[in-house]
Amino acid sequence: MKKIIVTGCNGQLGKAVNEYYKGSNEYELVNTDVAELDITNIEAVMKFVGDVKPYAIINCAAHTNVNACETQEDLAFKINAIGPRNLAIASKEFGAKLIHISTDYVFAGDNDHPYREYDEVAPQSAYGRTKLQGEHFVQQFADKYFIVRTAWLYGDGKNFVKTMLGLGKTNDTVRVVGDQVGSPTSAKELAKAIGVLVPSDNYGIFHGTCEGVCSWADFTEEFYRLAGLTTKVEHITTDEYPTPAKRPAYSVLDNYMFSSTTDFKFADWKDAIKEYMESGLAEV
Ligand SMILES: NC(=O)c1ccc[n+]([C@@H]2O[C@H](COP(=O)([O-])OP(=O)(O)OC[C@H]3O[C@@H](n4cnc5c(N)ncnc54)[C@H](OP(=O)(O)O)[C@@H]3O)[C@@H](O)[C@H]2O)c1
Repeated sequence: MKKIIVTGCNGQLGKAVNEYYKGSNEYELVNTDVAELDITNIEAVMKFVGDVKPYAIINCAAHTNVNACETQEDLAFKINAIGPRNLAIASKEFGAKLIHISTDYVFAGDNDHPYREYDEVAPQSAYGRTKLQGEHFVQQFADKYFIVRTAWLYGDGKNFVKTMLGLGKTNDTVRVVGDQVGSPTSAKELAKAIGVLVPSDNYGIFHGTCEGVCSWADFTEEFYRLAGLTTKVEHITTDEYPTPAKRPAYSVLDNYMFSSTTDFKFADWKDAIKEYMESGLAEV
């Protein structure tokens, strides 16, 4: 069996990766979260990876609280940049492939067409800056790496869908930003995409999001409809909902590397959210 170390295994993507590989007779997952392996600690990472000698490492660990990153940039830098740097160094030393996850927030969000992998980056938030530096370190220190930028992720864990479902049950109307657009992406779809990359030599930066585009308000209307909620969704502007971290207005990614180099196609966001709602993972 080929061993795959999963870091951040208790997070949304970590759990989805576990579901994806369940029952595999080719790969054996070695699951870790911060209690077993703090990715910010280079000695711990080198020892762990050296002991396991994995075929691949899937880094699902991150500081994902975008607003908190604004006041915790040093901590975010350690987790989102030094962590992947450590994994990159260890992956090279022990000959493992590294699959690292990044974000649409590396872009400014002022495009009028979907961002491709080679488009210019310009993060607008501390989260985006630290994630971008994580990408740089991976490129600098790893040999065999995949960087997969995803967006608007939801799975088994705390996320926008669950928060809004909770609010929808106790309010007649909710106010949701309608002028930021992107592609909501299920952790399940992203795990499938990672599963396609792992056995390949198809290295580089990939955009990995569900197909189709909507605003946060459109997205909310869709999962309220699927949940049978009649809560009204009032579309508001970003200015009417100020947050500590600036969000890109246009967050649409073109999965150009996936379509150019693989047969893999992400599900449409509407199909993916329907599957998620039916899976029971959205229960609040
Ligand atoms: N969520 C989104 O909307 C979104 C959008 C674009 C990209 N992404 C990227 O997608 C990836 C997966 O996100 P996700 O939503 O699955 O994240 P998540 O649910 O927040 O899970 C992250 C996991 O990493 C753990 N962790 C934190 N610090 C660590 C450390 N020092 N060492 C080891 N583990 C640590 C966390 O533990 P604690 O909970 O105890 O801190 C948590 O279990 C991340 O790279 C993220 O940046 C996410």
